[in-house]
Amino acid sequence: MSETLLNKVYSHFQLLYDKDPILVFSPGRINLIGEHTDYNDGFVFPAAIDKGIALAIKHNDANLCRAHAFDIDENYEFQLKNLSPLINGGWKNYIIGVVAEILKAGHQLKGFDVIFSGNIPSGAGLSSSAALENSLVFALNALFGLGLSKTEMILISQKAEHNYVGVKCGIMDQYASMFGVKDHALLLDCRTLNSEKFKVNLKGYEIVLVNSQVKHSLNESAYNDRRQVCETISKQLGVKALRDVSVERLETIKHETSFEDYQKALYVIQENQRVIEFSEALQNNDIHQLGRLLFEAHDGLSNQYKVSCDEIDFLVDFAKNNPNVIGSRMMGGGFGGCTINLVKKDYVNKFIEDVKKRYKEAFHKDCKIHRVVLSEGTRLINNTF
Ligand code: GLA
Repeated sequence: MSETLLNKVYSHFQLLYDKDPILVFSPGRINLIGEHTDYNDGFVFPAAIDKGIALAIKHNDANLCRAHAFDIDENYEFQLKNLSPLINGGWKNYIIGVVAEILKAGHQLKGFDVIFSGNIPSGAGLSSSAALENSLVFALNALFGLGLSKTEMILISQKAEHNYVGVKCGIMDQYASMFGVKDHALLLDCRTLNSEKFKVNLKGYEIVLVNSQVKHSLNESAYNDRRQVCETISKQLGVKALRDVSVERLETIKHETSFEDYQKALYVIQENQRVIEFSEALQNNDIHQLGRLLFEAHDGLSNQYKVSCDEIDFLVDFAKNNPNVIGSRMMGGGFGGCTINLVKKDYVNKFIEDVKKRYKEAFHKDCKIHRVVLSEGTRLINNTF
């Protein structure tokens, strides 16, 4: 969490509105393993990071909501009625969505002023969207004393994304951003929303993210399509979600489904299993097994679930051919963003130098490196500021 970011948002709010705001910080997330399993009621293994969104908020007497996106210097004003998503609304739909979902849940809001700014690299697959949604729902809950639990808040954030942004996302990003624990990753059961925290101690290895700088301009439709395939196959199998089936059970409908869809469902079932194996390996300090599982996961994401792209496959292949990288895979929704790599500590600088050079040679553009610190989830800053 950056003091500069918090200071900037706080003082800019004071300057604009001449009053002291409530200040909230909500982080982005990484995910160790378990991609596209969350909306299949399965397991994921995310962690909140030290980068995120700082948001300042206070009531006004105008019964009007005024929002300012500091980083792009854009404003948006709206009233607390007839809220519907804007065409190409970008950040505004996250704001409208959270407000609308709070109202739909039967809570009362009044006019407010809000300013936010972030330091999560955009398009990196580090969930700046969830951080923004969570920062707003958390701040409104504090400002208006709504009495929402953290779980209620993340479900509001998720609904905002479904109904106002148009991405039928799972719950992983909002959960990790809200419930993150310093130095830990969370093994989350997306059906029960119970999680177990695991201290991430990688014994001489470090997590390094390589950002392909390919924007997953998602891919919204590609994402929603994948979800649809999973739901259709679950229906065919007579279960609530793919989490409920084994590979053997899937086999029974193999002849009734296309090869592509079968592979996608197979990936989800196998990835779910990998998450459990990963948590066991983490507990046993089996770094080689952690690495193997990451490479396997990438293979599935690229060849079965088909959510990778050339740049990301190149980065994983580069890692695979490198004895100092024990595991690597695409992270997040896909079609760009970052790879997550486990790199031998002494070798990190050399790895960074090499990967930058090779990526540039191959694609004539730069990749970016992010070193992450696992941090606490969404929180109120004011009291300690
Ligand atoms: C995006 C979604 C998440 C999850 C991941 C893939 O980040 O928001 O819910 O499905 O993709 O694991």
